[in-house]
Formats: sequence, C-alpha cells, structure tokens
Amino acid sequence: MKIAVFGAGYVGLVTGACFADLGHDVVVRDIVEQRIDALRRGEVPIHEEGLVELIDRNRERLSFTTEVAEAVEGAEVVYVAVGTPPTYSGDADLSAVWTVVDELPVSDDRIVLAMKSTVPVGTGRTVRLRLDDRGLANVGYVSNPEFTAEGTAVRDFMHPDRIVIGAFEDGDGDVVERLHEGIDAPVIRADVASAEMIKLAANAALVTRISFINEIANVCEATGADVLKVAEGIGLDRRIGPSFLRAGIGFGGSCFPKDSLALKQLAANSGYNFQLLNAVIEVNELQKRRVVGKLERKLGPLRGKKIALLGLAFKPGTDDMREAPSLVLAGRLHAEGAEVSAWDPVADGSVMLDGVRIADSALEALDGADAAVLVTEWPELRDLDWSAAGSRMRNRLLVDGRNMLDPDELRALGFEYEGIGRA
Ligand code: UDX
Repeated sequence: MKIAVFGAGYVGLVTGACFADLGHDVVVRDIVEQRIDALRRGEVPIHEEGLVELIDRNRERLSFTTEVAEAVEGAEVVYVAVGTPPTYSGDADLSAVWTVVDELPVSDDRIVLAMKSTVPVGTGRTVRLRLDDRGLANVGYVSNPEFTAEGTAVRDFMHPDRIVIGAFEDGDGDVVERLHEGIDAPVIRADVASAEMIKLAANAALVTRISFINEIANVCEATGADVLKVAEGIGLDRRIGPSFLRAGIGFGGSCFPKDSLALKQLAANSGYNFQLLNAVIEVNELQKRRVVGKLERKLGPLRGKKIALLGLAFKPGTDDMREAPSLVLAGRLHAEGAEVSAWDPVADGSVMLDGVRIADSALEALDGADAAVLVTEWPELRDLDWSAAGSRMRNRLLVDGRNMLDPDELRALGFEYEGIGRA
C-alpha cells in the first residue's frame, strides 16, 4: 500500500521505516527542510537503535519530502505523527495536528487519516467534524496509537504486545489492520474514543507502577527493608508481574510526564478530579528532589559543595533529556549553592544545563567531588573503575539513583553508598 507519514520525529520515522520494511511505499513529510535534506542524504537525525539500518535497507520504498501534495499523492493512508507538546495549561497542543487536517487536499479518493500522535480522548470526534466541514467525507479517521519506547522503538513496532485500531467505519479500520500484515500480535478493534483512551490509560498505569514502587522504596528506607527484594517478591505474583517495578529517582522522557499531565487535565476539563494520577505525578516530582535531602543529611548545607551528576539522559540508550530527572536535580543543587559537574556518554548537557560544568569523562566529572549521584543507568557506569573514581573524589559519597551498583563492592572500596529504598 502507499502511505504518507506526517512528521519525521522519533515516532514518524520509526513508523515510516517499519511500514516500508513491511513492504509498503512510504513518503515521510516534515516541515523542517534541513531535516528532510539530511534524511535524503541518508543521515538519520535521531539516535534510535536499528533505525539507520532499517532506513538504509528500505531506501527504494521510503522517500522524504516537505511537500504535502507529493506526500499525499496516491496515498491510501495518511499517518499523523506530529508533536503534541503540553501547553502552559498542561493540555496537549494540537496545533500541528490541525495543520495536517487543514492541509489535506480535497479529492474524491477514499483515504484514511490515521492518528499516531498521542491526543486527548475526543480528538478523533473533533477531527471528524472538521473533515466534514471541509467537505472531506471521503477521508476516514482511525486512531492507531503507538506503544514504542525510545531505544527499543523499532523492536516495539515490529513485535508489539497488541495493535490498537479505533475507527468510526469498520472499512477504515480494516485498511489499517491490513497495513500491519506481517506483524504477529493481537489486534484490538475499538471505537475511536476507547482507542484514544487505551493509549493514555496504558501510560497512566505504567507511571502509577513507577510511583508506587518509589513510594514503597521510601517506606523501605524508613523501615529497614530492601526494595529490590520487595520488587522481586511482589513481581513473582502473576497478578502483579515483574516489569516497571524499578525504584529510582523518578520517570522522565517525552511521553510519561506529558501524557500523565494531559490525562489529568483531560479528566479535570471533563469535571473529574483524577486523584490517583495527581498523586502519581506529585510523587514523581518529590522523588527527583529527595536526592538533595540525602546529600544534605550526609554533607550538611550544600553551599560550595561539589556534586557530580553521572548520566543526564532520562534513561540509557538515548540522547533525550526531555523532562529528565537530571534537569530538576541540577536546578535544585544549584539553588542550594552547590557546584555541579556532569557527564553523559551521549546526551549533550550544555544545551539545557546552565552553570553546570560538563565533563568529557565520568572520572573528570568526579574530580574533587564531595558526592556523586548516579542519575542514568548507563552500562558505562556499571563498568566504571570505581576504585579510580573514588581516588578522584574529595569525599567518597555515592547516591545510586537507579540501584545499579553493588553496595557491598562500593563499600569495600571505601564508598559511603546510598541507593533508593535499600536497607
Ligand atoms: C514510554 C512507554 O514505555 C511507551 O510505551 C510510550 O509510548 C512512551 O513512553 P519511553 O519514554 O521511551 O517510553 O521510556 P521507558 O523506557 O518506558 O521509561 C520511561 C521512564 O520511566 C524512564 O525515565 C525510566 O527511567 C523510568 N522507569 C521505567 C522507572 O523509573 N522505573 C521502571 O521500573 C521503569
């Protein structure tokens, strides 16, 4: 089939490349000319495992353009994969979505507009009305949310737990279902509003688990239990399961914080106070800040103290620092008057971190430090020569914000080790 994908970001590029790999002809369209030029030259502007190879392998079925007409020409399905960032009020900013809807050329061909971007429940209905207003009754609408995590997006797309398709007309849903032939996964057919809600509810369930285990960790700290053992023990209960029970310094990234806030606001706008989700968000905010309290308990006031942040990306395997706990931590430490140094193997901290000394290596970041905070669980930090690290520091205090290292090994090297929720 011939497909157009609007938006050449993480989601659009992965969607386009994966559909090309399934044998479809795909045109990816973006408004940023430099991005499209780079893609045409074979340069992939984002860091995503396996994406470069996938795009290379499917060159003849994958093209890039800035022109709407060129993208839509002959397309049976038009995917929307544009950004929906939060506005000041916490609602999703749908202006890029509306631009796509308004740019669709008038024609008599039957096409399906498929929504990949995460949007509030009710968006499909509003898009439907707008299409009808424009005289585009020939354009069907389908909600087909993505469940891909950064770093594993290609694998998540090709081997999903499920494919969700919400349509107003069964025939439009059938078209989108056919596109996925070759992917072995259960297909959930739903109405549009339910498909939209599945995406928001899935993310809300995952962040609830993270904030839950983080609160258990905080109670473990107060009572002498070890959250790693606790997570193992509850995770073996089949009704609970083991995933997303890693306690740490909170979730970040481009999806979880934005989507949980969007669902909270969606509920509030509809007259419902989503108390549980409010608490989940609040717990996450506090979790990022608790590290500062831990440092103060050991070091006293932080004014003039040197603190090294190891890892800046919101998780390993990506250069993405959007809503990363490192940003809040750096800001809080700064406000306390600490001198902050930082290192990350991929993320460029100099863009988003003002007043932080960015080091070329983890060891350099640790030079003269009074404490180190392990912020992102990069494998490079597991493999670090911690004995050498200790000798670079003025004081061997380590807060392991991801419970990645072995406390006994670190203590044997003379470190004072603090994890999250560890006995
Ligand atoms: C997430 C969802 O997994 C994906 O389905 C959705 O489409 C977009 O949001 P992503 O943001 O790439 O994907 O990252 P993910 O690997 O899910 O991790 C998100 C955050 O949660 C990270 O900051 C991570 O450190 C944190 N996390 C995750 C925990 O703190 N504990 C856990 O047990 C799991």
